[in-house]
Amino acid sequence: MILPIVAYGDPILKKEAVEIDKDYPDLKELIDDMFETMYEASGVGLAAPQIGKSIRLFIVDGSPFAEDDDEEEDPKAEGMEDFKKVFINPIIEEEEGEEWGFNEGCLSIPKIREEVFRKERVIISYYDENWELKEETYEGYAARIIQHEYDHVDGILFTDHLSPLKKRLLTKRLQNISKGEIEVPYKMKFPLKKKGRT
Ligand code: NI
Repeated sequence: MILPIVAYGDPILKKEAVEIDKDYPDLKELIDDMFETMYEASGVGLAAPQIGKSIRLFIVDGSPFAEDDDEEEDPKAEGMEDFKKVFINPIIEEEEGEEWGFNEGCLSIPKIREEVFRKERVIISYYDENWELKEETYEGYAARIIQHEYDHVDGILFTDHLSPLKKRLLTKRLQNISKGEIEVPYKMKFPLKKKGRT
């Protein structure tokens, strides 16, 4: 089932989400729905708060970042072809390396992309969809997607990483997103949309 994606301005996107346990109701179905929703919206990551659930869960599929054979080699794209994962109760244990800039976007903030600086490498522990505890190290685009999605379960958006000036320049566009005054090719829920208006 495709779920509506919560738009910028909804308080759930600013809330620190809570951990879940194995008894969380219909978890498998929720994960399936999140993948379906993410693919429909052509995203590479989706966190539970974005579909209205304030729990520490996110999914990723970085395969759109995988390289074609004829492309110039990009070390940041290594391993992206099968970077499809479920992260439950994740903890970023460490972030290391040089910060690098990347133009990030977010399904909750359609049509806005801005350069965000983050460290190269993350060590993350989490439970996978079978409740197996993992600890892994990621770099490049995989690390970037994890850092962005992990922020979501902490109530942080990529716009929170921008300078006050850059953020101020985006104010109007962000307000329009909250009000639903934007064309989006996937289903969304807008916090400030007036009833009866389409
Ligand atoms: Ni996002």
